[in-house]
Parts: sequence; C-alpha cells; structure tokens
Amino acid sequence: MSRAGVQKTLDVSIRQKGFLAASGEKLEVLNNVVFRLEPGEVGAIVGPSGCGKTTLLRIIAGLDADYDGDVMRPAGGKLGFVFQEPRLLPWRSVFDNVRLAAPAASAHEIDGLFALLGLSEHRGHYPGELSGGLARRVSLARAFAAAPDLLVLDEPFVSLDAALAAHLRSELAALVARKPVTTLLVTHDVDEAVALADRIFLLSPRPARIVGEVSIEAPRGARNDGVVKEARVKIARVLE
Ligand SMILES: Nc1ncnc2c1ncn2[C@@H]1O[C@H](COP(=O)(O)OP(=O)(O)OP(=O)(O)O)[C@@H](O)[C@H]1O
Ligand SMILES: [Mg+2]
Repeated sequence: MSRAGVQKTLDVSIRQKGFLAASGEKLEVLNNVVFRLEPGEVGAIVGPSGCGKTTLLRIIAGLDADYDGDVMRPAGGKLGFVFQEPRLLPWRSVFDNVRLAAPAASAHEIDGLFALLGLSEHRGHYPGELSGGLARRVSLARAFAAAPDLLVLDEPFVSLDAALAAHLRSELAALVARKPVTTLLVTHDVDEAVALADRIFLLSPRPARIVGEVSIEAPRGARNDGVVKEARVKIARVLE
C-alpha cells in the first residue's frame, strides 16, 4: 500500500492454492508465491508446463477467489486479460468485440489501436474470418482498449510461427511503451520474457513457488541477442 493509502502496486502473496481432484485427492498447485510489481512495471512469469501459471493469473485477475493469501491490485481495478486462447465473440465484428470490452473508448481510439496492430482492414470482419495471428491481435486490442490498470497475458503468442510471434511481441512492446501499464505476462519462452519484461520470475515445477528472479536492465528497444544471451546465463544460474 502506498503512503497516500491508494494502492499503486500489484502485491501478490499467495500462501497456498490447491484443487480437489475428482478422486478426492488434493492437488497442490501454488505454494508461497510472493512478489510485487511497481506501477508500469512489466513482469514475466516463466515456468514449466502444468506448474500453475494460469492458476496464478486467474487468482491475480480475481477470477478465482478460492486460495489462501492476499492479492492487492492497482487502484481502479480495471483489468485487461489476454487468455491463452483468444476467446472472441464469434457473432460480433472485430470492432464490436473491442468496443464491447471498452465502452468508454472512442471509435477514434479503437481505430488508432487497430492501425498500430495492423487490424484496420479487418475491423468489419468476424472472428471466424480471421487467422490465428489476427485473432491474437484482436484480443490484444481488446485488452488495451479498456485502458486497464493491470494487464495480464497468458502465453499470448503460443502456437504462432516464430516470425509472427516476434512481430506481435514488438507490437506489444510498442503498446506498453506508448501507454505504460502494470503488466504480468506468462510465457514458457525465455526470449519472449527477455524481450518484454523488466523482471522475470522463475517458477518451480508444481506446486509452483518462485525460485528466483532476473532483472533485465537494457531498455526494451535495445534488447539484442547479447542481452538475451546474458539473461539466459543468469536464468540458468538461478535454475541450477
Ligand atoms: N479447475 C481445476 N480443477 C482441478 N485441477 C486443475 C484445475 N485447473 C488446473 N488444474 C491443475 O492444476 C495444475 C496447474 O494448472 P495450470 O493450468 O495453472 O498450469 P499452467 O502452468 O498454466 O500449464 P500450461 O503451461 O500447460 O498452460 C495442473 O496440474 C492442472 O491439471
Ligand atoms: Mg496455462
């Protein structure tokens, strides 16, 4: 909590989270996940498949209240969530999908986002007419249009080819640069984490806990292969 009493940071302190399996057994998923993001900071969560990353994001987003611990979201509470799958409304146009999520955004603002994301010529199309990469862009536009206080992305570029993923990564970096927003990104791709994050949190296998964190000091625009390599070395050292 800040001195003025208005919550500015994202404060995550999850002591324990589990699920009850159909067999009646308890599945431990998160164990003591504690971190804070400063206003405008971009954090990346990197961890093995099935360790509890989506579970963690859902708790942070307020979609799952059944856990032991506390999460304080930045004041305002407006949330942008880019899910692992784009989840667009199939019977609404691209423009309406974004407008419905951001009723306060003007058509001008939405069209500005579309221009930045290469969606202008698709604004009247329906989700069924879009490629996977275009659908991802629409879900990014939708999350951004609402001017969120907290942006949460769950492996937003998974299952895209490498070139398109790299392109969308730089579009996301441009969006965050244009309008800083506290952002938490889940990825299993270290390159993606290094390209986008200020800090990388490394999770253990399930039950997930933070085994270490790595800061990326280089400005987002200057993260060349050397920066990625250096970060990989640091990450390997933490995971040793
Ligand atoms: N609603 C649920 N009920 C029971 N078990 C669940 C539920 N949701 C997730 N799990 C289990 O919790 C564990 C963590 O799942 P989660 O989806 O958080 O992992 P993840 O790190 O996001 O995986 P991936 O990298 O594959 O996306 C898994 O073993 C999963 O089967
Ligand atoms: Mg997941």
